[in-house]
Amino acid sequence: MKTSVGIEALAIAVPRRYIELEDLARARGVDPEKFTIGLGCRRMAVAEPGEDSVALAATAARRLIKTSGLAPERIGMLIVGTETGVDHAKPIASHVQGLLGLPRAMRVYDTTHACYGGTAALHAACEWIASGAARGRAALVVCADIARYGCNTPGEPTQGAGAVALLVSDAPRLLAIDLGISGASSRDVYDFWRPHGRREALVDGHYSIECYLEALAGAYREWRALALAAGLIENGADALPSARLERVLYHVPFGKMARKAHAHLRRVDLEDMRGGRLDAAAEAAEAQAAAQSFARQVASSLRLCAEVGNIYTGSLYLGLAGVLDAEAAALAGRRIGLFSYGSGCCAEFFSGVVGAEAERAIRAARLAETLAARERIDVAEYERIMDLPPDRPLEEEPPPGGFRFAGVREGRRLYVAGPEAPADAARERRGGVAVGAGV
Ligand code: HMG
Repeated sequence: MKTSVGIEALAIAVPRRYIELEDLARARGVDPEKFTIGLGCRRMAVAEPGEDSVALAATAARRLIKTSGLAPERIGMLIVGTETGVDHAKPIASHVQGLLGLPRAMRVYDTTHACYGGTAALHAACEWIASGAARGRAALVVCADIARYGCNTPGEPTQGAGAVALLVSDAPRLLAIDLGISGASSRDVYDFWRPHGRREALVDGHYSIECYLEALAGAYREWRALALAAGLIENGADALPSARLERVLYHVPFGKMARKAHAHLRRVDLEDMRGGRLDAAAEAAEAQAAAQSFARQVASSLRLCAEVGNIYTGSLYLGLAGVLDAEAAALAGRRIGLFSYGSGCCAEFFSGVVGAEAERAIRAARLAETLAARERIDVAEYERIMDLPPDRPLEEEPPPGGFRFAGVREGRRLYVAGPEAPADAARERRGGVAVGAGV
């Protein structure tokens, strides 16, 4: 049984275009502060038909193999977590295997449970390695999605698209997962769903927030009991159990949700410690304490999410990329908490320890460079892209190092590969990501 298992390296892929949420608010006749402050959203990636879930997943995986120096023969498992698949039977993972020319001696499949699919894949990979069944090999886990609610809907400002590829191994340079210390909460609810044949998700927005918070409480309580019993955190009078975590990362459908989630997490701790609801004085003190705690424990994880919007399965891991990009050196050896929520619903709270080499490993991902290569578009262009039929992509060259969907022939999807990205050394970046502060 391997005891040190987790994320060795990561890479992201995002559509080449984005809009500013302030532009969208003005076009919709909404006060821009509703989107930027009320929802905590800043920018939103806009996927063209050529940038489907397969193209995004394969691009992120190709980038990960290149930037981490991963030898393909080391990979023994490839799982894609997604809720925006392109076929009812053939998984995105098999497209990725083919496009990247990966070896055949491996398990290849997709996992689907709304935004939880990526976390399901991560845990399956960790447990496969920890059990010894991997025989020293690593797993490639890719989370890829296009969040689409449609124009002029309440969900419109909470769209986005992108992919996060994770190399999972017994050399977890970025994050060693606390194996077996995790809490799950699931329930049969209709908070968000996408019937067959629809491109846009249907959502009962305010109810979905309630479901998220309820699942957070259940999953966190189970994690907390296990973490206290294992001595990973302490239950002292000087701090809440959740405050013992150096950072807490949440699934981020929109930035404000992480703020609501963190306030709820603290309330669960406080009410459980007191054995009941807070009185007026305690409420006032907690409002201030929660804001300070959010700034310390959560804010840095929202930096990349605020650039891209909701990417469903990859959202939590985009948060991880953001926090490590901002402060990997300071967090080395420290424990962080992670909360994954998938509508429908299934949620999991788990934790891990940031690796001593995390800063070097995250620099290799060149996150700033990926985001800086994007182009801002106006709302008219965004609306034109939203109206394009999904099976007739623009005839554009795929980007260097990337892939594009190229159309359907006899029911089969075709993809084209871009040329190799320029040499690593010439593109080595310096400093952190120049992005907004999120909420
Ligand atoms: P809405 O009803 O248009 O917004 O849609 P609202 O009226 O609730 O306002 C939002 C916030 O803005 C409120 O703040 C307002 O007060 C504030 P809050 O009370 O919540 O703190 N506000 C303003 N602030 C500043 N200046 C102003 C102003 N006006 C109002 N002028 C909703 C919001 C989130 C419901 C909608 O966008 C939606 O349906 N989004 C999609 C669903 C979603 O993201 N749900 C999240 C939980 S479920 C989940 O995370 C899973 C998911 O990722 C899918 C999966 O699992 O696959 C979605």
